[in-house]
Amino acid sequence: MSGSKKRVYIKTFGCQMNVYDSAQMANLLHGVGYDEVTTAEDADLVVLNTCHIREKAAEKVYSDLGRLRQIKEARGDHEAPMQIAVAGCVAQAEGAEIKRRAPVVDYVVGPQSYQRLPQMLAGEAETLATDFAVDEKFERLAQKRSQQGPAAFVTVQEGCDKFCSFCVVPYTRGAEHSRSAGQISAEVRALARHGVREVTLLGQNVNAWAATSPNGKGGWGLGQLIRHLAQIDGLDRIRYTTSHPRDMDDNLIAAHGEIDVLMPYLHLPVQSGSNRVLKAMNRGHSMDDYKRIIDKIRRKRPDIALSGDFIVGFPGETNADFEATMQAVRDIGYASAYSFKYSRRPGTPGAKIKDQVPEEIKVERLAILQDLLVTQQIGFNAGLTGRTLPVLFEKPGRHEGQVCGRSPYLQSVFVQGPTSLIGSIQDVDITGAGRNALTGNLSREVVTTA
Ligand code: SAH
Ligand code: SF4
Ligand code: F3S
Repeated sequence: MSGSKKRVYIKTFGCQMNVYDSAQMANLLHGVGYDEVTTAEDADLVVLNTCHIREKAAEKVYSDLGRLRQIKEARGDHEAPMQIAVAGCVAQAEGAEIKRRAPVVDYVVGPQSYQRLPQMLAGEAETLATDFAVDEKFERLAQKRSQQGPAAFVTVQEGCDKFCSFCVVPYTRGAEHSRSAGQISAEVRALARHGVREVTLLGQNVNAWAATSPNGKGGWGLGQLIRHLAQIDGLDRIRYTTSHPRDMDDNLIAAHGEIDVLMPYLHLPVQSGSNRVLKAMNRGHSMDDYKRIIDKIRRKRPDIALSGDFIVGFPGETNADFEATMQAVRDIGYASAYSFKYSRRPGTPGAKIKDQVPEEIKVERLAILQDLLVTQQIGFNAGLTGRTLPVLFEKPGRHEGQVCGRSPYLQSVFVQGPTSLIGSIQDVDITGAGRNALTGNLSREVVTTA
């Protein structure tokens, strides 16, 4: 479409689905002559791929736009002008309002309509697209993605029908939608052919993935999809995230005990340990339901690393409710977890509840919860010292002569070794453990022929 090379800078906020979308946008734009650069100052086009999940995340976009406006206005007449696109969940939630608040913005594209960016840039499409065109999106993206590194994300499911009362995702990503098994397996095969050893299947509710089997007979859930992908040559590791307790079916749980390439890690958010709060959150499960699922999984895969998300200070949360969350964490035991202060999101049912918890109580509860979660995380990691773990090396480490990879349980692992190890899986004797990472030595000398 365009002759001379142009440069695009993409800044990504939010979840892994946005990371995947940013990679897809880079691909699409590459197809129309844009190379990716790492600073806005160097770019002809800046894309902010935004997140709306908490107030802070959404506000960041406007402070970034303020900075970009200065860069844009400072460009001299002899320089190429800068164009600015806002993509992602803020784009979806605010639409035309973004251009009103920040007239410096040229294009607005939602998470299910960014495939139209190239046409927009060519002046062949409206400069604002926020419709939920999921099928169109995945068809247009096809499988022609470039991939760097041995681990890749693959979106298999989009959207959410759960409507937790605190959450914007059902409004920004639209209804639950599953890609077809054939399309997913073609994308994963192509990645494996290009040296990818590990894929993480992504979805806002990834375990709600459901589609007809490739032979058209009968329905598949995520468990069947994983069994199918596990047979792909060269693919050594499969992960999936994020799951909802309501969709954790027996086939998927059984897969954790049967499929070697399915990694022993599960991100299963519970949000609160109080049944009263879970109900007000419209989670559709109780604490007992959650514990039953965890028990079943641990029977299939006793060493599984459990992860979760927690919200403190949901409207009406009492000290007793918070204590129930603390007790749940003590009972279950997490390898890692994310925890947040409740953030009031306009348009969600939670925002209308009168009984909002004061900020200082949220701060206090978050600190207490995070203390416990960090202690559990350090304990889980420490329990791995003395073990030998297979590590998929992904990149150079922080120090000279070091390489960094991931354990099956998803921690980073640092060892002394040549960068030629990147892309391979090696046994590592774990000798040290910190809060976020493990250290170790290669179990045997590795002869590389790179
Ligand atoms: N689909 C995933 C999570 C999506 S959002 C799931 O259902 O688990 C990621 C996390 O952000 C949520 O699990 C929740 O813990 C947190 N979150 C979502 N809305 C929030 C809000 N309004 N305030 C604080 N945290 C929130
Ligand atoms: Fe948000 Fe709940 Fe849907 Fe997760 S399940 S995306 S928390 S509404
Ligand atoms: Fe944020 Fe949208 Fe992901 S709101 S967490 S970028 S789905």
